[in-house]
Order: sequence, then C-alpha cells, then structure tokens
Amino acid sequence: MGPALYTHAMRALEQATKALLAGDLTPATTGISFGRVRELLARCTQNLRTTAPHPVIARRKQIDMNLDKLMNKHLTRYFDPSKTIPEETLQQLLRFLRSTPSSVNVQPNHFYVLATPEGKERLTANLGERFQDNAEKILNASHTIILTTRADVPDSHLEAVFTKERADGRFPDPSKQELWESMTRDFLNLRSYGYKDLNHWMEKQTYMAVGLTMMAAAELGVEATPLEGFDPTSVDKAFKIRETGHSTTVLLALGYPDPERVYTTPISRFHADHLFTFI
Ligand SMILES: Cc1cc2nc3c(=O)[nH]c(=O)nc-3n(C[C@H](O)[C@H](O)[C@H](O)COP(=O)(O)O)c2cc1C
Repeated sequence: MGPALYTHAMRALEQATKALLAGDLTPATTGISFGRVRELLARCTQNLRTTAPHPVIARRKQIDMNLDKLMNKHLTRYFDPSKTIPEETLQQLLRFLRSTPSSVNVQPNHFYVLATPEGKERLTANLGERFQDNAEKILNASHTIILTTRADVPDSHLEAVFTKERADGRFPDPSKQELWESMTRDFLNLRSYGYKDLNHWMEKQTYMAVGLTMMAAAELGVEATPLEGFDPTSVDKAFKIRETGHSTTVLLALGYPDPERVYTTPISRFHADHLFTFI
C-alpha cells in the first residue's frame, strides 16, 4: 500500500508541476486538483512514517553508503588472483554495461570480456614495453574488459541502430521515430563536418560507460580499475580489433582486492574551494 500510494502521489505531483511550469493551473487541464495532491502527499508522509521505506528510498540509502565507501578509497592496484567474480554477478554487470546510454543512442562500442588466462595473457603480452606494470593487475584481476569504440559511423551502423529502435518500439509513433532519425543524422553530420570530432566524441561516450560501470561494480561489491596504460596499436592488432571498424579506448580490470596489499593512506584531491564555483 505504501509504495503504490507513493508512486500515485508522485505522478500527481509531476502532472501538477508540469502544469505549473506551463502556467496552466486549472484542474480541468491537469486532470488533478491541488487539494488532491496535498491530500495524497499528506497520506504518503504519514505512510512513510509508519511503514517500511519505499524501495526507491531504501535504495537511495544503500547508494549513499556506497558513495561514502567509494569516496574514501584508492582504486585497486593489487587484485587477489584466487578470487573470481561469480557468473551471476558478472552477467549483472554486463547487463548494466549494455544498458549504459550514449548520445543520440549511437552505441559506438564493442566490448571484449577477458575471462580466461589465455585472453588475459594475450592482452598483457601486447601492453607495450612502457606499460608492463599493468600486466600484474590484469593477470590477477578476475576479468578485464577491453572497451573499444567505432572509428566512424558508417550508414550500416546507423541503420542497425534505427532498425533496433524500431523493433524495440522506442517511439510508439512512427513519425516520431522518423523525426528522431533525421535529427540523429543531422547531429552526426555536425560532429563529422562541423566539429570534426566524430571519433573523439564517441570515445567520450565510452568513458561515460566506464564511469557508470565503475559505480555499478561498487554496488555489486566488485572493484573496478580503469587502465589507460597500454599501447592501443598493439592491443588492436592482437585482438584484430581494427578489422571490425573499432579501436581500443580503455581497459577495465575487475575483481577483488588482495587484502594484504590494500592502500590505506588518505586519498589526495583538491579542496572543494578549488573545484566548485557557486553562482
Ligand atoms: C581513466 C583512468 C585511467 C587510469 N589508468 C591507470 C593505469 O593505466 N594504471 C594504473 O595503475 N592506474 C590507472 N589509473 C588510476 C589512477 O592513476 C588513480 O586513480 C589516481 O592516481 C588517483 O589515485 P587513487 O585512486 O589511489 O586515489 C587510472 C585511473 C583512471 C580514472
């Protein structure tokens, strides 16, 4: 009863807020009176005091706890080679990675999930001489993901995105889908010929996926360390990545820390005054 009422009240509040922003406050157009919103929220507050927290609220509490944990720790440099991420947890993380958003839904990535010693060794043998210190991290991590990004956006890729969006019913109205496709083409033309940064722009999407996946990993109790220390030319060659129209952007080592080798010194970041300007 609590969660249902909460959801109902929030919907009503959203509707009312939209009407308020549009400058139209009449119950006839919003379909809801402000008295009703007030009443629902009052009952909701009462319910929240007396019943278990709504799942959204309970979840927020959990995330806050993990934020504290994330804010006070170094990224893991030493993984425990004896620990493997359980299959269900790995699949959950990969489902999450698959769900990460990208600008105009361009979905510019392919991910190589290295789970076997052979896969990890192929990567460490091709990191390049100056990046050898990352080899131990990759070999001891449970899994390492090579995140690759498209070099460009051929029409075949764009058509594949649109075909999937249509099949998934992303827009219920076909005319909206058409409008979206034309806007997407315009935006990609702007990146290609205006800003001339198509690949760089797509790599920014890849970094967003990395950041979000690091947060998701923390939520699942898995340590995630991004690695930029590798030679992309030799990694691409070792996994025949350029043949697919992609190149390597960044690596993500996943696993559990070696308890004997966890850094406990304070993390070092600029003071808030240096970082934030409130206007
Ligand atoms: C995008 C990215 C790439 C990184 N690449 C490497 C790497 O190749 N090797 C490594 O040991 N650490 C790597 N790190 C870890 C950073 O060096 C580390 O987070 C930073 O120095 C702050 O240290 P702390 O996490 O211990 O506070 C990387 C971190 C980020 C965010």
